[in-house]
Amino acid sequence: MQIAIDVNGRLGDAESASVPVLDRGFLFGEGVYETLRTYNQRPFLLDRHLARLRASAERIALEPPLDDPTFTARILATMQAVDGPGERSIRLLLTRGAGELGYGLANCPPPTVVVIVRPHAETPAGVVATGIGIVQSSVLRNHPQSLHPRIKSNNLLNNALAMQEALRAGAAEALMCNHRGELAECAQSNFFLVRDGAALTPPVEAGILEGVTRNFVFEVGASAGIPVREETLLPADLATADELFVTSTTREVLAVTRVDRRPVGDGRPGPVTRALSEAFRRLARQRCTS
Ligand SMILES: Cc1ncc(COP(=O)(O)O)c(C=O)c1O
Repeated sequence: MQIAIDVNGRLGDAESASVPVLDRGFLFGEGVYETLRTYNQRPFLLDRHLARLRASAERIALEPPLDDPTFTARILATMQAVDGPGERSIRLLLTRGAGELGYGLANCPPPTVVVIVRPHAETPAGVVATGIGIVQSSVLRNHPQSLHPRIKSNNLLNNALAMQEALRAGAAEALMCNHRGELAECAQSNFFLVRDGAALTPPVEAGILEGVTRNFVFEVGASAGIPVREETLLPADLATADELFVTSTTREVLAVTRVDRRPVGDGRPGPVTRALSEAFRRLARQRCTS
């Protein structure tokens, strides 16, 4: 199979896999998810992704129906069904399930568990070499008293609206502020700014998703001798930044070389970003041996 999809323990392909229309994941976006990738054909930091899935689920009062070994076995079995060599992208979704057309939690059916596995598309070397452009979005990151940014929610409309702005401007990411006007994160990735040799990123309290990649970058920095720390950042800091980069499971550590079409520094990926990006890939592969 090109894409393998497991729905509640039933394995199928992109044509045959389906979830009921009355699933509240479809009706209300009521569910949570994780995106993982493999290195050396093994899921990277699976334990941290499962822990975040459980934390997200808890915030919406959703009880995951499987324990971690069963989640793991299901992911590995779905991976096996994808043809061909190479790395895999894995999406693990958990929704409220198919019930009545209401918000009540009583008489809820068991949650729906979906695992989608497909070949992983690496960021093209040309994009790594040039970096990406981003826009400062007019869309704010969700207020923590609305859809809390720490929930990795299937309801991605806010992110989608921010990305529409970016794509209309020919950019690859949308940088959002929080309700206080501080820089928060991008629509699909966490955000870092390099100043005086140190990589700075907004604190979790700024209202962001606590990225698994972001957190791993603290460890990468420690091993590469590059200071990485949380700091409150403002839009005005963008103009004086030495370098910018984003992090995510899919993008790893990726340089941002244009903001609103203006170059960052000399318009090329800087030395701190390049060092963190290389060290990240090395350490990620190391983790996925043995
Ligand atoms: C809003 C947002 N922030 C950050 C990230 C990066 O998270 P991770 O590094 O765990 O992939 C994502 C990934 O999808 C995201 O959607």
